[in-house]
Amino acid sequence: MSDDDELEVELEARLEEQEEFEPPESFVEQANVTDEGIYEEFEENWPEAWERAADLLDWQSDYDTVLDESEAPFYKWFTGGSLNASENCLDRHLDERGDEAAIEWVGELGEERTYTYEQLHEEVNEFAAVLRDQGVQEDDVVTMYMPMIPELPIAMLACARIGAPHAVVFAGFSADALATRMNAADSEHLVTCDGYYRRGDPLHHLDKAEEGLESVDQDVTSIVVDRLEDDFDHDLGPSQHDYHDLLAEQEGATVEPVSRDAEDMLFLMYTSGTTGKPKGVKHTTAGYLAYAAWTSHAVLDIKPDDTYFCSADIGWITGHSYIVYGPLALGTTSVMYEGTPDYPDKDRMWEIVDDHNVNQLYTAPTAIRAFMKWGEQYPNKHDLSSLRLLGTVGEPINPRAWKWYYKHIGQESCPIVDTWWQTETGGMMVTTIPAIENMKPGSAGPPLPGISADIVDERGSPVEAGRAGYLIVNKPWPGMLRTLYKNDERFIDEYWDEYSIPEKDQWVYFPEDGAKIDDDGFITVLGRVDDVLNVSGHRLGTMEIESAIVGVPGVAEAAVVGGDHEMKGEAVYTYVITEDGYEGDEELRQEIIEAVEDSIGPIARPEAVVFSPELPKTRSGKIMRRLLEDIANGEELGNTSTLRNPEVVEEIAKKAQDD
Ligand code: PRX
Repeated sequence: MSDDDELEVELEARLEEQEEFEPPESFVEQANVTDEGIYEEFEENWPEAWERAADLLDWQSDYDTVLDESEAPFYKWFTGGSLNASENCLDRHLDERGDEAAIEWVGELGEERTYTYEQLHEEVNEFAAVLRDQGVQEDDVVTMYMPMIPELPIAMLACARIGAPHAVVFAGFSADALATRMNAADSEHLVTCDGYYRRGDPLHHLDKAEEGLESVDQDVTSIVVDRLEDDFDHDLGPSQHDYHDLLAEQEGATVEPVSRDAEDMLFLMYTSGTTGKPKGVKHTTAGYLAYAAWTSHAVLDIKPDDTYFCSADIGWITGHSYIVYGPLALGTTSVMYEGTPDYPDKDRMWEIVDDHNVNQLYTAPTAIRAFMKWGEQYPNKHDLSSLRLLGTVGEPINPRAWKWYYKHIGQESCPIVDTWWQTETGGMMVTTIPAIENMKPGSAGPPLPGISADIVDERGSPVEAGRAGYLIVNKPWPGMLRTLYKNDERFIDEYWDEYSIPEKDQWVYFPEDGAKIDDDGFITVLGRVDDVLNVSGHRLGTMEIESAIVGVPGVAEAAVVGGDHEMKGEAVYTYVITEDGYEGDEELRQEIIEAVEDSIGPIARPEAVVFSPELPKTRSGKIMRRLLEDIANGEELGNTSTLRNPEVVEEIAKKAQDD
């Protein structure tokens, strides 16, 4: 072994053992937030300290109250103020940064398009005029069902400009999922596209959109972006219009950004919950935007001159807050890419970082696990020295993956922020401020300044350091959801029922995550404690999947649980009982898989379908999911003595193994 090799082995061993990492000095010297006193300041001067976030925005009229708690838990932030989100993301940057890139888009076929702030402003104005011309009024919900093409953020910002809330539906969701969401939001307007490319091949999207519209109750007008050009000739019906034709009609149009009340809805985002019906999370203009901008500034360390790259899809909250609203509110360059990280080759991400001189990279543990598996030769092919900070989001990251990311991508000179948050929280809640705290691989960090989080037991009492409990948030924050669309009751039931004491006006938000806290106040998030799975960082409700399965002829009953999966984190395992006269054969298995894909989308595709004689049930008839999880994970089976039918467990385990 050469001296160099020996040194390498020694360094590797040190890294493996190291439990705490200091932020690199070069990072600290230039960071946006470096003053440790910020935590105390928020505590002592609460809620007024949140003005710091509001100050990052331009207001059309000033707010008079930072936080209105009078109708808790329907909190209101920055009341009395008015502003426009598109003006904050575009107009105010024009004087100083009009010629700088706002969006650098990298397409699946390798094409690139750059929009300067000036150009983005122009197209957003024109499209805002198009929407108005199409009859979209303030407060009408406009649905977007589009992949990662620039027209998506353009449409979002155009909506924000005229005060029409957007509801973006992830393009990978099925026709049924689109219809459910459009019906729930009473949305009469859809912006979509003819198709997009996956691994170089055209994929028809319009067919799926049209199929979805067949199940929408209200009349819908659609605007269709021609992404595939000659690769897909499509005819448009009378209620469908071509995006570029409409835009051409409005060439040069300008639309004044309407004045939105601080608490007016900016967008709706549907997410999975414990029941079959997705939840319409409502975010408002001022609190959400201030929070997205503040966390982008404090945690991602974004500065206007940076080039920042988040690899999420805008169809999820991460893309809303940290591709579109946060970075653009701060006037930076946001890189947006369409495709998958292994096409045309497994160095796709590193090629983008290299070509665009990316300063911050924000991605998900599921992607990092894939990078690790593919090997360091892919990042090694590229110059990644422009990187200054790395981030992760969506699921817990194991220390091995964290260290790989730190070493092979960050070259041991970038801090990593492991950010815990949710669709409902609007922005990051628990993570380190990178220049202030040391990092502990696997642990997200302390709650951000002004965020009051704790770990409690079933009764709401704080648990000792190191013990698992439930994560709760004790105080409101500006980016919080305001309610579930048209369903205040469910909002209370889902988030506030567990630990609040309404008689004492004590309101505690329950995110449905398990966690533990260490002596330094660092929180390690363990995962969902409700019937929601986290598959590759995507939230999927087991009930939604189960109801798709029981709709298949021949299926009597189904139970869905999450099983550990090396790449996806968690995978969908289904246990199915057939009706008399039906056989659990390959044909039925395929029908079940298709039904799940049709009802939700390919992301929910079951990893395994196990035909079972019965499901393990308690004496009161509840399915013992824990045992099914043990079976999925091939673990020793836990206590079965409380079951009505203990004998069935071994039988299912054997069937699962045989399959
Ligand atoms: O379980 C937590 C997990 O993802 C859930 C939120 O999912 P969603 O609303 O789709 O938003 C994902 C992007 C913000 C949480 O309840 N989660 C998110 N970030 C982390 C995490 N689990 C552990 N560590 C994280 N950093």
